[in-house]
Amino acid sequence: MPEFIPLISELEINKKIQKLGQKISSDYKEKDLVLVGVLKGSFIFLADLARQISIDHDIDFIGASSYEGTSSSGQIVFTKQPDLELENRDILFVEDIVDTGNTLLKIIEFIKLLNPKSIKICTLIDKHERRNVKIDVDYSCFSLEKGFIVGYGLDYNEKYRNLPAIYDLKL
Ligand code: IMP
Ligand code: MG
Repeated sequence: MPEFIPLISELEINKKIQKLGQKISSDYKEKDLVLVGVLKGSFIFLADLARQISIDHDIDFIGASSYEGTSSSGQIVFTKQPDLELENRDILFVEDIVDTGNTLLKIIEFIKLLNPKSIKICTLIDKHERRNVKIDVDYSCFSLEKGFIVGYGLDYNEKYRNLPAIYDLKL
């Protein structure tokens, strides 16, 4: 039986997102903000974050998944392209977790071809141990050295996204 060890509570998550929403609202006051959620893991984080951002902004999604099951150094397949016109706009990617960084690197390479004005990265969890590309995370709620976590959008084989808090999963 898998074991779920509580790591980050709902209250902690809510507090961080409220602060982050205020910071983004102030940083993007004079800009043309588009939040681009990376599917699927970011859907809950994005829904809560957007409601803490007080300035006008647009929302879009991009779908990407790593081709190889376990190794995210594999090829990235785009499962959904953004619908909105992104040229000359200020893109803020919203991710559940940045692990190796490979997914975001590929997504950024692709989005750059659409000539946005700026590209920044916002992640709920910044996990360091396996990072193997140089990528600047501009906004992060929580830092994690290692481990495999689930809940609040994060899955293990598509399960446990619905858990309201974040748990360390021990298989
Ligand atoms: P990266 O390309 O290695 O940065 O992979 C990022 C993706 O791997 C995330 O968007 C998640 O879908 C998944 N992932 C990485 N670490 C975890 C974890 O601890 N729990 C759940 N999913 C994870
Ligand atoms: Mg996932």
